[in-house]
Amino acid sequence: MTQEQTIENAVRDRYGARAKNLDSASCCGPSNVDDLLSHGYSREEVGPLPESAIVMAAGSGNPTALGMIRTGETVLDLGSGGGIDVLLASKRVGMQGKVIGLDMTKEMVQRASDSAQKLGLQNVEFKLGEIEEIPLEGESVDVIMSNCVICLSPDKKHVFQEMFRVLRRNGRLAIADEVALKPFSNEEKADADKWCSCSSGAITGLEYVRGLEEVGFMDVLVKPLERGGGYAGTGVLSAFVSATKP
Ligand SMILES: C[S@@+](CC[C@H](N)C(=O)[O-])C[C@H]1O[C@@H](n2cnc3c(N)ncnc32)[C@H](O)[C@@H]1O
Repeated sequence: MTQEQTIENAVRDRYGARAKNLDSASCCGPSNVDDLLSHGYSREEVGPLPESAIVMAAGSGNPTALGMIRTGETVLDLGSGGGIDVLLASKRVGMQGKVIGLDMTKEMVQRASDSAQKLGLQNVEFKLGEIEEIPLEGESVDVIMSNCVICLSPDKKHVFQEMFRVLRRNGRLAIADEVALKPFSNEEKADADKWCSCSSGAITGLEYVRGLEEVGFMDVLVKPLERGGGYAGTGVLSAFVSATKP
């Protein structure tokens, strides 16, 4: 088995178990209302969410707060987990729009679908699949959001290429993610536990900008989150990444 496959399996096992409540360890993310408020969510938006969506939240920030999502748009959430950002974006796009959540673990897809059903949402769909091979047609999405997921992928180049492929012209990225303060060593990258905790899989801001520009994105911006400053000892900080497909 290659190192890439080992990491991918470890990530799937970690988050599949988390969705089944076998592993309640959060990576870097919030899992109650107060934590969510400190991660950029407002009390008003999280108030109506079912408890099941709140406890599963495991993100770096609030990508729906970037204000880039408009009525009628099609939005894709890469690594949607328990579905919190999909549920919130559903309100922003309205009935004319659509929000698709994509996740590699069937347990997360099931959790998120149950939460959407509890809220009676008609404009959301959760799909099982990998962000390195997005199961959608090219040029079919207006906005891609993602929250603490790309740092978990061992093949970021394919993720960036796939994001570019499925976005429409002028489509936008609204990503919250962990960014490395300096490149991790090969030894750290081989540490599946550190990787699964949203740490050693992270790339630097410069690598993020270059990687997105290489596949064709423009106006790439990596902006550390205000509450950032790095998690003591983890070598990462949370940031928003935005970019446009020309
Ligand atoms: C840290 S959690 C974040 C979940 C969610 N975005 C949130 O903010 O609560 C990471 C999620 O990404 C999913 N994931 C990780 N790597 C993935 C991949 N390569 N393809 C699809 N999903 C992936 C995991 O299954 C997990 O649900």
